This record gives sequence, structure tokens and C-alpha cells, in this order.
Amino acid sequence: MPATRLRRPRRYLTCEPRFFDVRYTINPWMREDAPVDTALALRQWHTLVDAYRAHGHTVDTVPPVPGLPDMVFAANAALVLDGRVLGSRFHAPQRQPESAAYELWFKSAGFDVHAPRAVCEGEGDLVPVGGLLLAGTGFRTAPAAHAEAQELFGVPTVGLRLTDPLFYHLDTALFALDDENVAYYPGAFSAGSRAVLARLFPDAVLATEADALAFGLNSVSDGRHVFIDPHADGLVAELGRRGYVPVPVDLSELRKAGGGIKCCTQEVRS
Ligand code: ARG
Repeated sequence: MPATRLRRPRRYLTCEPRFFDVRYTINPWMREDAPVDTALALRQWHTLVDAYRAHGHTVDTVPPVPGLPDMVFAANAALVLDGRVLGSRFHAPQRQPESAAYELWFKSAGFDVHAPRAVCEGEGDLVPVGGLLLAGTGFRTAPAAHAEAQELFGVPTVGLRLTDPLFYHLDTALFALDDENVAYYPGAFSAGSRAVLARLFPDAVLATEADALAFGLNSVSDGRHVFIDPHADGLVAELGRRGYVPVPVDLSELRKAGGGIKCCTQEVRS
């Protein structure tokens, strides 16, 4: 008998992909010659927001800014823990103006924003779980930002090295299932980081390369419901066996920029 999983209501910050496009290439999923259907991206994104609301979560939105085609990927804008906000400093110059747009929202919502000095792409690379902060590096967020996060939040930070450019952010290769456990794709990490993950999470859900390529690890869990790409079918089945309830959401059009469900979702933990 799988455990009964309990859901905790969450507050999510998102950004409508009204100006979504692929106009530059900063990860291997992006191809400037592939046409983008912005209307389809918008419809798919609305199914995600509707699914969150249907499961009792609060969804806030930041106004999208013309000329910032990746702004839909709200996860990269910050990490919010205990009401404290570590803002972002993007690796790619094209995305750098997003930080100020999100900072405006956080300030108007009553949060102080601590601006990182090193490259830091928010929840794209920083995942709080089990009283720790898992912190990815290798392609985007710099190890110096992990230290800044530890100093700001007072939470032990565990650095994890990503080695495959297809999984350039930690949230493309790992997600928190609940407050204690994670799901991840071991092939995205260095040998040492794999050993760290195995030691910290002996009971983790391990995903296959196919599930990872379907962006199955770019999922959002409320502790019970897992909002997940339906094409990650092996992982969807395994989550069901473990007592979680998969909620399928297909964001195929946003995949053209290398993004998925978690990329579109910033959790505001206050
Ligand atoms: N095109 C964006 C980039 O390369 C996608 C970001 C996806 N976000 C994420 N949290 N993985 O920066």
C-alpha cells in the first residue's frame, strides 16, 4: 500500500507568455529557425494556471514585458524562503532585464529583494528540500551564489554539478516531491553529485533519460498532486505507484525555449 500523500496549499508566481518567442539561443533546446506559435503557448500556459487553481493553489502573475521573450520562466527570477527573496542575476545578457521586472512585483507585494552578486538563476538552480538547499551549478548559477543563498537563508546549501547541457538548470533534472524526498535523473549529474544525492535521498524516485528528455523532472508537486508532462510516462506511472497523483499538463510550445512546468512557476514561500 503506498503512503497517503498530503497536499499543502501553495502560492505560485507566474508570468503570462504574451511576448513568448525564441529570438536567441542560450540552451540546446532553442532553435531560432523553429517557428513559435505564441497563441498556442498562451493556451497551454493557461491550462497550467487553471490546474493549479483547480487544486486549491493561489496563482499571482507578473505583467509580461515586450522584448523579454523568456520572461514566462518565472522560476529563474528568485528563490523565496520564509518570506525572504533572493533575486536573480542572469547568465545571458538577453535575460538580465527580467530581474528588475520581477523585483518590482516583489516590492509591490511587500517583499524585500536581496540582489545576488554572482550569477544566480533562482529556483532554476536552487531547490529547497529536507531542510537543505540543493544548489545546481555547471551552466548557469555560480557556486559563489550558493554561498550567498546560504548566508541569506541560513539553510545548509549542497552544491550539485550538472554535466549535460540538455539539463542546464537543476530544475530540468530534479524536483522536490514533498518536504523530504526528490525525483531526479542521475545521468544529468557528475559522479560525485550522484553519490551525494544517493546518500541524502536513498528513497528518491529515479527517472530514466527518456523521462528527463520529456521534461518529466521539470515538475511541480504540492506534496500530493504532481503537475507533470504526460509524455514522461515511466515517471508518471512510478509516481502513481508511490502514492502521488500525477496531473498532466502539456507545455510543448514552451519546450522550444527549453522550458516546462517548473520553469513557469515560482513558489512564494512566506
Ligand atoms: N530559455 C530559457 C533559458 O535558457 C529557459 C529557462 C527555463 N527555466 C528553467 N527554470 N529551467 O534561460
